[in-house]
Amino acid sequence: MKSIVILISGRGSNMHSLLDAVAAGSLPVRVAAVLSNRGDAPGLETAAARGVATRVVDHRAFASREAFDAALAGVIDSFVPDLVLLAGFMRILSDGFVQHFAGRLINIHPSLLPSFPGLHTHRRALAEGVRVHGCTVHFVTPTLDHGPIIVQAAVPVLDGDDEASLAARVLAQEHRVYPLAVRWLAEERLHVVDGRVLCALPQDGATALISPPA
Ligand code: GAR
Repeated sequence: MKSIVILISGRGSNMHSLLDAVAAGSLPVRVAAVLSNRGDAPGLETAAARGVATRVVDHRAFASREAFDAALAGVIDSFVPDLVLLAGFMRILSDGFVQHFAGRLINIHPSLLPSFPGLHTHRRALAEGVRVHGCTVHFVTPTLDHGPIIVQAAVPVLDGDDEASLAARVLAQEHRVYPLAVRWLAEERLHVVDGRVLCALPQDGATALISPPA
């Protein structure tokens, strides 16, 4: 069975959805550890309460991004994970870190990439007046919020939405698609060809790569 390490910076609701899927038997992975760059990340406590090993590597203790990333990579490597999952990990990662975990470093981002990379995605989606918004699970490459897309889920932007209501609608989809994407990875069903992700079982992949119903 593949093992995963999950990186968080805060609330950790995506981490929860992954732990829930593992507990429910729908995600065949072993959760080796949950790591955070912040000791006060609420998700750490709840991971520990569920019996998962937790570690903190505080970025403020390091003089440079590279030094922090090297220390973080060392802690991750100590768990020998097959997959490293960024789940609300709010740090820009150095090229060296990304290269070290190339092909097994995955991120979830709260927009339909390549639209709205970076921060405040829901606010920016509302400001632009887009009618469709969503989330993306993708392989991580050195370019921020960029990389081969595994799955996306779309939601409507409704009249009267504010940042909170739109964020909540997207988050519900994040909690569906991240465990799904990780299951495909754990089952070795995904291949990257020319920067595009192909699913080994086309009929399943085609169904799921179109966003799940809202
Ligand atoms: C999620 O919406 C995730 O997509 C986003 O942070 C939130 C974390 O929530 N990630 C990014 O913006 C990364 N660029 P969570 O801690 O409850 O999972």
